[in-house]
Amino acid sequence: MTEIDYAKVSRYWEKATPSILGPYMMDDFGFPASAGDFRFRAESRIVHRLTSDVKRDGAVLDLGSGIGVWAEDFARRFSTVTAVEGSRTLFKALQKKGTVYPNLLPIHGDVTTFESDARYDLVFLGGLLMYLNETDVIDLLRKLAPCIEPGGMILGRESTVRGNAVALRGDYQVVYRSVSDYMRIFGQCGLSVRHVERNEPYVLIEMGSELVEKWQKFMPVRFQALRAVGHLTYFGLRLGNPWITRIPKALGIAFPKLENHFFVLAEETS
Ligand SMILES: C[S@@+](CC[C@H](N)C(=O)[O-])C[C@H]1O[C@@H](n2cnc3c(N)ncnc32)[C@H](O)[C@@H]1O
Repeated sequence: MTEIDYAKVSRYWEKATPSILGPYMMDDFGFPASAGDFRFRAESRIVHRLTSDVKRDGAVLDLGSGIGVWAEDFARRFSTVTAVEGSRTLFKALQKKGTVYPNLLPIHGDVTTFESDARYDLVFLGGLLMYLNETDVIDLLRKLAPCIEPGGMILGRESTVRGNAVALRGDYQVVYRSVSDYMRIFGQCGLSVRHVERNEPYVLIEMGSELVEKWQKFMPVRFQALRAVGHLTYFGLRLGNPWITRIPKALGIAFPKLENHFFVLAEETS
């Protein structure tokens, strides 16, 4: 598989809108801003459940933190949060959050060169590994594994595909790996996988994005009425939530094409 062009990844995120929709890749579908809030709230219920055993006085490392919606949530729940973000545009918004939460330390930098002697109770990788080549994913995870406190965890949240990995190589560079690809990679890094869970709020919104994309392909631009269609699609899916995401699975239909999974990882004990 061809390598990710990091200069393009960086260019893409420099131009990203520093809103809740931008880092969630939900910008171009006419969804209301409340769609981003919905997804964050629904995901945070999952994240709170998965991290419920992490010590409240613990330290958190949030890598590729975007505008810091998660870093802020962690700052409310844990003692200290170090948040590293590569895009200057998104970092500015993260920095503002740092002024509100004295226990939140924002760092502008590349996660592949980030070094730390500290130990963490929770390392959050929320949609980061998909922008890294496999060798860099492995280097990063091998570096992080010994930084996890006993009883702590790495919590990953990555977009996934059902079959072979898919790489996008245009202005938006990304690699969507399968759950089994990630399991193999985690195993190579001395990490044991404690729990894997499909991210249902992501899948719901992704159903909307893929439906709107189909509409955009089929309808000439001047008839698209993207805002109205995006709003209708989103509120329609919300009405059908949570059962609507289960229908394609029950019928054996591979829709949406992209899924997303949470991975709870801990250092393997020998
Ligand atoms: C999909 S967004 C996720 C943002 C945030 N974790 C969230 O869940 O809202 C991916 C983020 O990773 C950042 N990123 C990608 N590659 C990076 C790198 N090598 N170093 C630092 N940040 C990076 C991007 O700038 C972007 O903010």
